[in-house]
Amino acid sequence: MKKMWDGRFSQASNELLESFNASINFDKNLYKEDIAGSIAHASMLGECGILSQDESAKIIAGLEQILNEIECGEFSFNIADEDIHMAIEKRLSQIIGALGGKLHTARSRNDQVALDFRLYCQKQNKKIATLLKDLISTLKNIASEHLDTLMPGFTHLQHAQPISFAFYLLAYAFMFMRDFSRLESSFARNNLSPLGSCALAGTPYPTKREIISAKLGFDGITQNAMDSVSDRDFALELLFNISLIFTHTSRLCEEMILWSSQEFSYISISDAFSTGSSIMPQKKNPDVCELIRGKTGRVYGNLMALLTTMKALPLAYNKDMQEDKEGVFDSIKTACDSLIILNQMLKSTQINKANMLKACKSGHLSATDLADYLVSNFNEAFRSAHNITGRCVALAEKLGKDLSELDLNELKSIDARFDENALKALSLLSSKEARKSAGGTANQSVKIQLELVENFLNSAKF
Ligand code: ARG
Repeated sequence: MKKMWDGRFSQASNELLESFNASINFDKNLYKEDIAGSIAHASMLGECGILSQDESAKIIAGLEQILNEIECGEFSFNIADEDIHMAIEKRLSQIIGALGGKLHTARSRNDQVALDFRLYCQKQNKKIATLLKDLISTLKNIASEHLDTLMPGFTHLQHAQPISFAFYLLAYAFMFMRDFSRLESSFARNNLSPLGSCALAGTPYPTKREIISAKLGFDGITQNAMDSVSDRDFALELLFNISLIFTHTSRLCEEMILWSSQEFSYISISDAFSTGSSIMPQKKNPDVCELIRGKTGRVYGNLMALLTTMKALPLAYNKDMQEDKEGVFDSIKTACDSLIILNQMLKSTQINKANMLKACKSGHLSATDLADYLVSNFNEAFRSAHNITGRCVALAEKLGKDLSELDLNELKSIDARFDENALKALSLLSSKEARKSAGGTANQSVKIQLELVENFLNSAKF
């Protein structure tokens, strides 16, 4: 098969080279961006007088026809065309004849692919941000129903202090809000057009790169041609942003797996998002959570792969960079699928308040409050208050009770100063409500957090 670049070649390509070298099987994903970029380029060439207006119009009409052919499934992708750029250019020449060969004036595949891939990443960045917003909204909606739902807060996966389920869910909402803002700032930083940088050094033609940039919705143009064709930071940022989203989703999913186990039974994941076992009829497994947790591996892997590919590459374009796409496509699909299913699963998850409350009654969750009571009522130093409370805990353990279940006489047997207010301090609810500090778990503080999330949801867009 004749190649578009074979003018200086006298021997045919090695058989294996064709498929090894080709990227069309995956970069056909970029067809829309490639055609949009070519249309913007052709129209700039016309506006700058590098092509006649008539030539420019004919090229654009041909490109529009190709877009239609691809969308109707009538376009045949052929490995001999190597990549999406050459496949489209070849087809253009079939449709409009020799004029098709003028499209590549003042352009190279190096800036073309840099443009296509950047446009694609920017579009997907926005899509992921929208899905994140949906997830945050679900977390907020569930949280607003659970301000008074008590659950144990953990450190070291040991019962620590009572918190509300709302407070717990909002912790994730804030993580995903930061993920959103990372996507937002990556988008802003990378919203520049590299097209017109050509092979690496710019072009002698009187081009106006700003015309292309404006037509494609960029905020401006990149400023150094060599950097523009060598840069894949935008893809790396997207891979990192997705990786951090997965750090957060995998923690949430890990907890959903724990919370739905018999040991906790804080939540029940709906049948629609659970699977059964082929041998054990009683089983209901949280496969969706496990898969999202597991997919974190491939998402991190895609980031490491591209970081490694880009490391130590000499400027400017190297074919190594063709390896940039598949991992990005994979991470994007993994992120979109996972965010959609996680959101739906959360909406249908049942919250078992009674079990959460029961769990709060083991592990002496209000011990810190008893120590705080001693400090504030008797001016006791925190260290000795800690010790007295520790002795109360030992007594409760001996009696087979939770600290919050000791009566006044039992408390007085440790320290005669204990009074009714000690019992109040030990109540799980007042322990939660005492934590009114900014960002704390008391309803008063959680309401402010809910408001912040609400404001974010009302204003976040880019
Ligand atoms: N398929 C190539 C890629 O994805 C397009 C750029 C090719 N440029 C070149 N000089 N061979 O990187």
